[in-house]
Amino acid sequence: MLEINNLSSGYGDIQVLSSISLSIQQGEIISIVGANGAGKSTLVRTIMGTLPAREGHVWLNGQDITKLPTHQIAKLGIAQVMEGRRLFNHMTVEDNLLIGGDILCDKQRSSENLTWVYSLFPKLESRRKQLARSFSGGEQQMLAIGRALMTGPKLLLLDEPSIGLAPIMVETVFEKLPEINARGITIFLVEQDVHRSLSIASRAYVLEHGQIVMSGTGAELLKDDRLRKAYLGI
Ligand SMILES: Nc1ncnc2c1ncn2[C@@H]1O[C@H](COP(=O)(O)OP(=O)(O)O)[C@@H](O)[C@H]1O
Ligand SMILES: [Mg+2]
Repeated sequence: MLEINNLSSGYGDIQVLSSISLSIQQGEIISIVGANGAGKSTLVRTIMGTLPAREGHVWLNGQDITKLPTHQIAKLGIAQVMEGRRLFNHMTVEDNLLIGGDILCDKQRSSENLTWVYSLFPKLESRRKQLARSFSGGEQQMLAIGRALMTGPKLLLLDEPSIGLAPIMVETVFEKLPEINARGITIFLVEQDVHRSLSIASRAYVLEHGQIVMSGTGAELLKDDRLRKAYLGI
């Protein structure tokens, strides 16, 4: 579904990503794990076209999307939940969701998606008329995921959904990912929480200093001595 080939990018004189290659099959939950500063968000930005690739290519279902603008990539079926969530704080929960659905230009589908998002996150429905800014961090993360799902994506890209959340909220957010995946949505999860994300990933890649240094199934990596020492302190 998504094929990344020799991708490099960076900021100004600094090269951050060096020759990243990876692939995602339809239906998988793929995780990228790595320490703070490894280049995870830079990878997300480069895939989404908000940061230009310096070398290499990104293919979505056989189409080269490397140089496409972000809104066009979104239209092709990739939705992202950015680090820091970026909600419209002065708008209600429901309006935040409906803005996500606008990209579809299809009222019927948008309304079906809204019903599904509300069944996935009942709290959003019970508080649909409240302003987004009145939400706690965890509730805002649910809203950000809900808004991304409203676009009817084939691939959902999540940049550190656990960051800054209370443990119980992290649990709630992670519990929903297999449910979203079961609906046919492929998931690309970028996380610092190595244990949790490897536990739900079908396959994972480890990113260090802008390079992929390990890959395997989530279960394989969880058993790997080097990974356990470096990331789990075991
Ligand atoms: N806007 C930016 N301008 C310059 N350097 C940046 C910018 N964003 C990130 N970096 C640098 O790129 C590297 C990777 O950052 P980032 O992709 O945010 O890592 P991660 O998401 O894995 O924590 C870091 O060294 C960081 O300082
Ligand atoms: Mg980041």
